[in-house]
Amino acid sequence: MTKIITFIGAGNMARALISGLVQEDNGNLNIRVADPTESQLEEVKQSWGSVETFTDNSRAIAGADVIVLAVKPQIMKLVCEPLQDDLKNQNSLIISIAAGVNIANLNLWLGGQAMPIVRCMPNTPALVQAGMTGLYANQEVSNTQHELAESILRAVGSTLWLSSEDKLDAVTAVSGSGPAYYFLVMEAMQDAGQKLGLTAEESRLLVLQTAFGAAKLALESSDDAGTLRQRVTSKGGTTEAALKTLIEGGLPDLFEKALKAAENRSVELKNS
Ligand SMILES: NC(=O)c1ccc[n+]([C@@H]2O[C@H](COP(=O)([O-])OP(=O)(O)OC[C@H]3O[C@@H](n4cnc5c(N)ncnc54)[C@H](OP(=O)(O)O)[C@@H]3O)[C@@H](O)[C@H]2O)c1
Repeated sequence: MTKIITFIGAGNMARALISGLVQEDNGNLNIRVADPTESQLEEVKQSWGSVETFTDNSRAIAGADVIVLAVKPQIMKLVCEPLQDDLKNQNSLIISIAAGVNIANLNLWLGGQAMPIVRCMPNTPALVQAGMTGLYANQEVSNTQHELAESILRAVGSTLWLSSEDKLDAVTAVSGSGPAYYFLVMEAMQDAGQKLGLTAEESRLLVLQTAFGAAKLALESSDDAGTLRQRVTSKGGTTEAALKTLIEGGLPDLFEKALKAAENRSVELKNS
């Protein structure tokens, strides 16, 4: 049976999700997008002719099985409140990808009646279908809606369901903000490579392919990262010399502090 999926907001994240969904669709999806900016909608139409576009959010959600709220957190209340009357007459699954907006507030802004809501935290590699999304569903979400939410987010990468909404702060600290930590490591390694005499291009390729290869190897291996690290660290070798410098310099402790700072900030933003 055809499922109607409406995206509110046609920005980067919505387009990443639409791109993944269109690639996987075997004719069962009716994808709609609403955004006040005509130029955003024009880009959507040019990329995916089958996607319906709207400038009126209310018209776009009529009869939708799923409504994906893909606007910035600061305008979420403004976007949700005008949809209250429309939602009284339909049992749409609400999926929010906005950072730091909790289910209690979403529910309140959408009218306060019991409704199925999934809150998720994707990350930017979703833009290249290699994202990592943490999800939490409230009690109103049925098994079918659970699977529907899963299939939408899986279109842009991997998914992890969480047992409590609070864990989304930890997810934000680890995978939500995580790409930036790896970019910092890449940047530092590229600069260090250049200081060893490599050109910028040589250093870039060596660093990026090594990051990609290490992640792929770790994902495909049944061993944990610590075991993989030990396996490539020969006694008295080059890797050991580098790792000793990093560990003695406090890298593991720094990561612990950095992730705690990100989690604290996520809680602060949610409560502000
Ligand atoms: N980007 C990420 O890496 C990332 C990661 C995790 C979570 N998220 C979350 O994903 C959400 C979207 O992020 P994004 O990066 O895709 O933002 P974005 O590119 O700014 O997209 C938001 C879109 O919503 C549109 N919009 C504004 N007011 C609207 C309204 N009243 N009705 C419908 N659409 C409206 C915006 O139009 P205008 O441009 O004209 O304002 C824009 O096209 C955010 O809540 C963010 O927290 C993003």
